[in-house]
Amino acid sequence: MAPTPTTYKRVVLSSRPSPTKLLDPAVFSLRHEPFPSPPGNGELLIKVLYLSLDPAMRSWINPSGSYMAPVPLGGTMRSFGLGVIISSDEGCKLKKGDRVQGFFGWTEYALSPEKAATLLAPPPPGAELLDYLGPLGPTGLTAYFGLTDIGQLKKGETLVVTGAAGATGSIVCQLGKLWGAKVFGIAGGTEKCQWLERECGVEMAFDYKTEGWREEFKRVAGRFDVLFDNVGGKMLDFLLTRMNKRARIAVCGGISDYNSRPKGLTNYLALINARARMEGFLIMDYAPRFAEGTRELARMLSRGELRRKFHVLKGVESAPEGLGMLFSGQNTGKLVVQVGEETERGKL
Ligand SMILES: NC(=O)c1ccc[n+]([C@@H]2O[C@H](COP(=O)([O-])OP(=O)(O)OC[C@H]3O[C@@H](n4cnc5c(N)ncnc54)[C@H](OP(=O)(O)O)[C@@H]3O)[C@@H](O)[C@H]2O)c1
Repeated sequence: MAPTPTTYKRVVLSSRPSPTKLLDPAVFSLRHEPFPSPPGNGELLIKVLYLSLDPAMRSWINPSGSYMAPVPLGGTMRSFGLGVIISSDEGCKLKKGDRVQGFFGWTEYALSPEKAATLLAPPPPGAELLDYLGPLGPTGLTAYFGLTDIGQLKKGETLVVTGAAGATGSIVCQLGKLWGAKVFGIAGGTEKCQWLERECGVEMAFDYKTEGWREEFKRVAGRFDVLFDNVGGKMLDFLLTRMNKRARIAVCGGISDYNSRPKGLTNYLALINARARMEGFLIMDYAPRFAEGTRELARMLSRGELRRKFHVLKGVESAPEGLGMLFSGQNTGKLVVQVGEETERGKL
């Protein structure tokens, strides 16, 4: 058995970024801390294995916060992650060796109240542990409920997905195909567009970084019934001119505006003529239905129906630079950081 480490690393928010400037990783600092004390009343000591990097984290560090309180200065950066329990208070139901998920943060080890950790079942057939940050985690559930509940996609309709090659977008594209829609994706770069067409089965993917993509979109895709929007800004403004009657726009995200002040939509009046609906949603509101979504997504994985890619960075210290990759499109697939190795379950 490996000796207990004397220190561990965590990344804290050391200054607040300007909400309208590109994120500077220097707002975070790496700290070396003494190894945590044994878990107290109702607590678990968790070794973090993977943490998820998500565009929404940008809003969690703004002074005004968002749907979550801002991360406090000097506090460990908040993030969702997967870990394994090293030790637990004797009153806890969760025990050493159990794999758990929760908001453990950018840290190698976390002392967490038991109620803030959820036990992970062994990955279903066709899946691996990392899928709990992909199709079987918040990413997959966002795609599933955004498309069913907000988009209300029906067989035979035309679905357009922005940020289509990303973690959420690529699952939306594949769900759309599985449910009998005609699917068009919009993504940055030839490689991402080719992956969408060859692996995810979309009819066509448009590279928004090329001149003239809008004309090509008008010619080939025409108009849509459902737009699953991850990007917002100018792209959404253009797509507002491409709606069929009674179109639905599921506003999942607006990543093009996360580092700047939104400039507004000039084409929103098209919603009137199209009798269309545009609705935002937050995946956390669907918590009571997560089991339903996970069951469906697990079934698709076990049949080999969902392609997914993980972009894995190593070491908790890579998280600050890694977060910026989401805004430059450098990530190819669901962006995660591998923080620790699970050598033997529950061992350090
Ligand atoms: N509502 C919810 O509850 C909820 C939950 C999860 C995620 N989301 C949202 O879903 C979206 C996708 O998140 P994800 O975690 O799956 O990330 P992701 O799509 O895997 O990564 C982000 C991608 O956004 C694209 N992007 C970045 N800046 C852009 C810009 N200015 N214009 C166009 N595209 C840009 C990049 O792809 P390209 O290379 O193609 O540019 C990048 O790879 C985000 O907007 C996020 O906030 C919402």
